Amino acid sequence: MPEQRPDKRLVADSFSRAAATYDQAAALQRTVGSNLLDRLPADFAPVDLIDLGCGTGYFSRALQARYERSVIGLDLAEGMLRHARQTSPMLSRWVAADAEALPLRANSQDLIFSSLALQWCPDLGCVLREAYRALRPGGYLAFNTLLEGSLHELRTAWRAVDDFVHVNRFMPAGELQHILAASEFVDWRCEVEEHRLYYQRLGELTHELKALGAHNVNPGRPGGLTGRARLRLLTDAYDIFRTDQGLPASWQVAQILMFKPA
Ligand SMILES: C[S@@+](CC[C@H](N)C(=O)[O-])C[C@H]1O[C@@H](n2cnc3c(N)ncnc32)[C@H](O)[C@@H]1O
Repeated sequence: MPEQRPDKRLVADSFSRAAATYDQAAALQRTVGSNLLDRLPADFAPVDLIDLGCGTGYFSRALQARYERSVIGLDLAEGMLRHARQTSPMLSRWVAADAEALPLRANSQDLIFSSLALQWCPDLGCVLREAYRALRPGGYLAFNTLLEGSLHELRTAWRAVDDFVHVNRFMPAGELQHILAASEFVDWRCEVEEHRLYYQRLGELTHELKALGAHNVNPGRPGGLTGRARLRLLTDAYDIFRTDQGLPASWQVAQILMFKPA
């Protein structure tokens, strides 16, 4: 999670602009979301469920198919919701809202699912309080989030160029554990998955991040374009990490299952 809080309007705008390109670039997002789905107990049969930070609605549709129940897809970005609604007008209810202020009644949901969205929330503790309030006893919050170490190659390479904030900051694992332990959920499990993607050119990675809407929206980001000389410096600095498979981009993903006791 960013140390300085990103502006939520910029987060929403960035994802809204990326709605049309997101799905083609979202291979890692598909993998880690599916891994999260697999962690839900096989005999769990939720009646009311919500996909928090649903984006284009890929996992809203997956949840609907798995549980054969209507799903609420909730997201901050109107553009993402428009895209989701056009893709599957009949499937889900799409709601524009903030995960830190859920427009849901207390004890109204059996499952709150959220894949790769909550790292954009400045106050994860607040999201957990909201989720606990909205869940019925016996319900699950299943979410994943990015941890420190994600995109460390890109962060290190940028440091060879300047001191601006170019890469979103992600929460250290210890801080996440602390927030989970401080929440009202007493029964929870957290496992960390490491993923590494490879690219032949740095431009492939930066285009992919842009297509995903995963822009740097932190205070302290540089303004304007990156000049040719700076780009050369960045490319050379990243090339230090090159392996036989290409340029690596590392991702640390915490997969978390939290249970509200019956
Ligand atoms: C990387 S996308 C993930 C989308 C989808 N869950 C998936 O796995 O394909 C992150 C989504 O979280 C949404 N988001 C970011 N901050 C949010 C917030 N505070 N409340 C609700 N949604 C938020 C973004 O608008 C974006 O659509």
